[in-house]
Amino acid sequence: MAPSYHVVTLFPEMFAALSGFGVSGRAIERRLCGLSFWDPRDFTQDNYRTVDDRPFGGGPGMVMLVEPLDLALTAARAALRRSGVGAPRMIYLSPQGRRLNQALVEELAAEPALVLLAGRYEGIDERLFARHALEEVSIGDYVLSGGELPAMVLLDAVIRQLPGALGHANSAAEDSFADGLLDCPHYTRPERYLGLTVPEVLRGGNHAEIARWRLGQALDRTRTRRPDLLRDRRLSPLEQALLKDLPGPSDREAGPV
Ligand code: ADE
Repeated sequence: MAPSYHVVTLFPEMFAALSGFGVSGRAIERRLCGLSFWDPRDFTQDNYRTVDDRPFGGGPGMVMLVEPLDLALTAARAALRRSGVGAPRMIYLSPQGRRLNQALVEELAAEPALVLLAGRYEGIDERLFARHALEEVSIGDYVLSGGELPAMVLLDAVIRQLPGALGHANSAAEDSFADGLLDCPHYTRPERYLGLTVPEVLRGGNHAEIARWRLGQALDRTRTRRPDLLRDRRLSPLEQALLKDLPGPSDREAGPV
């Protein structure tokens, strides 16, 4: 069964950016995954369909009411239970969460379902955590105005991992981070643009040489831009040899003479 993704959000229309375009749009259209929305306003009891209130203890901003969110999450879980998914992972997008990375994306892409909660305002009533096993996930150390964009970031990264989502069978495996390294540089036609040329090796057609060059470039970029990634990674003998052959960071800084 294709995985199904359920999003609790006040703004389901925003997700047209995900479902209407590109890789994620095609995957949803081709039913490689399901995408459903649960609007907390539909779970309110009052005429104003209120979903927020002022914080106890004072302070700026508003807090999302516990009940509409609780009922929306419960409805999403009930729908999943009816389709045979017992205990879906439930994720609240929040700057307080575990940082999203490719390892977590790949883990989530293997799940039969996900329930995502996109908050608004200053946050959600803390008692929601006592009602649902919510994992908090952050997309980075900055604050956005709501969880919808982070939920779309997470879903886009997850959906491109689904079998058949990408045209080329191996593309996801070749992404940056897929093997813990940054991506190598890419070139297409023309061979010469305003005097700028394509590296010789890529035009030669020697696939082993090309693979070696690409790995060397990926290692070089990773070492200069994200040395933290290399520290956490076991290098193969070939990678160690390539790294030794690369010009050191000081050579690069020296620039042309
Ligand atoms: N909501 C607001 N900012 C966020 C962030 N950086 N990550 C996840 N959810 C958020």
